[in-house]
Amino acid sequence: MQNSNQRFLLKSRPDGIAGPEHFQEDVQPVRMPGPGELLVESVYISIDPAMRVWVSANPGYVLPVEIGTPMRAGGIGRVLVSEDPAFQVGDFVNARLGWQSHPTVRAADSQKLDLSVGTPQDWIGPLGTTALTAYFGLFDVGAAKAGETVLISAAAGGVGQMAAQMAKIKGCRVVGIAGGAEKCRYLTETLGLDAVIDYKAGGLAEAYAKALPDGCDVFFDNVGGEQLDLAIDHLRENGRIAICGRISQTAASELYGVKNLGLLIGKRGRIQGFIVFDFNARYPEARTWIAEQLKAGTLQQRLHILDGLDKAPEGLGMLFKGENQGKLVVQVAAE
Ligand SMILES: NC(=O)c1ccc[n+]([C@@H]2O[C@H](COP(=O)([O-])OP(=O)(O)OC[C@H]3O[C@@H](n4cnc5c(N)ncnc54)[C@H](OP(=O)(O)O)[C@@H]3O)[C@@H](O)[C@H]2O)c1
Repeated sequence: MQNSNQRFLLKSRPDGIAGPEHFQEDVQPVRMPGPGELLVESVYISIDPAMRVWVSANPGYVLPVEIGTPMRAGGIGRVLVSEDPAFQVGDFVNARLGWQSHPTVRAADSQKLDLSVGTPQDWIGPLGTTALTAYFGLFDVGAAKAGETVLISAAAGGVGQMAAQMAKIKGCRVVGIAGGAEKCRYLTETLGLDAVIDYKAGGLAEAYAKALPDGCDVFFDNVGGEQLDLAIDHLRENGRIAICGRISQTAASELYGVKNLGLLIGKRGRIQGFIVFDFNARYPEARTWIAEQLKAGTLQQRLHILDGLDKAPEGLGMLFKGENQGKLVVQVAAE
């Protein structure tokens, strides 16, 4: 039986990009579970841009992570000890593990994985929250329809690559925005996107005009700032903008002032933010659709796996420097 729990605690609140200097490692004895609790071995931990928001003093939609407490994170783990009759030793669960190797979690907050639908790695990847975010952001908030043009920012990232493929499956013309030639090549050659915009190559306004000669009906925005402004410029009449994230602004010292909002009036455009948890009750519907696509081979998710819990603090910074090649995950233990 494992008797120590490696943890990374929040040491200080970052001003800009978060990194290892903002976290502190410690090792504690594992806490044996009480009634309704599980002792879990973390296997995969998801690294998400939202974590940078959670370590700020006022995240807005959730409570901040307190200094001196384990960094908040979701992940997939294996049950080592169960004090809840609904969970057996060896079950895989989706739970609020935090940056911990052997957390003790509430069974009521944990979901037993159905391994007939996908492997534990599938559950952190294409069946996980980033894919659900893409599904509801694209089909509900963006209301994308066959034949429409969909523009997606951070299109090579975890959420973006799923939204891009889902829009292709739906029969849309899909244009992706990404930083650098390698990510743009991945979008056209591997995912089959119709056009790409490399926002790091310069001439952004010209690149939008070239990739969107007839504008776009849906903008799935993960980035905000100038990319949002230009998308409003190119939005077609009755177009929809789904605000999924604004990573260019999250750790910025100075916020970009979006200038083109007035254009939404004449375009009858709609702009709407959303949180994936709003769609909690409909996760099974989305997962059924995603599982069918995985089985048919029409959907894939590129995972970027870092080896070991020690990599989590550095991993969070990678998201803000575009250093991840797909959905970023830390593998803490073997499946
Ligand atoms: N609303 C929700 O419920 C919800 C749920 C999950 C995630 N999200 C949001 O979805 C977005 C994507 O999350 P993810 O987990 O899939 O991360 P990700 O896209 O895999 O990684 C972040 C990517 O953002 C791009 N980026 C970073 N800084 C940038 C900047 N200054 N300007 C332009 N692009 C920048 C980088 O791609 P490039 O190399 O292409 O620059 C980077 O790889 C985030 O904004 C996140 O907050 C929202």
